[in-house]
Amino acid sequence: MKKNQVVGLGIGLVVIIALFIGIVSMGGSKSGDKATTTSTASRTASDNAVSIKSYMFGPNDLKVKVGTKVTWTNEDAVVHTVTADTKLDSAPDSPDMAKNATYSFTFTKAGTYAYHCAPHPYMKGTITVTE
Ligand code: CO
Repeated sequence: MKKNQVVGLGIGLVVIIALFIGIVSMGGSKSGDKATTTSTASRTASDNAVSIKSYMFGPNDLKVKVGTKVTWTNEDAVVHTVTADTKLDSAPDSPDMAKNATYSFTFTKAGTYAYHCAPHPYMKGTITVTE
């Protein structure tokens, strides 16, 4: 009789532990989903960023809405610029950008803005701005 009670208690304990592990692992997968959501959000936030790396603008063809601020970052050791092919108040025109320098420009007018790097005219990029 006493032995049966001990066995019953043991089984009860195993069930409780199993339930606890189940709850913990469910919680774990939920926080995994959260981490995925966060990384998606940070990718969206970086959509207005253009890197200048290995003598290339990346992405070299970016589409944004009017009012968007685009930031270029020079990741090369050499000086680059962001220079609109057609000089306009509504088009970007950066000073010389040393390594790690950033240049931001807010597009306020719809249009297609082709640009290049002044010291390296073969470096080309386009920002397409829509309403
Ligand atoms: Co350049």
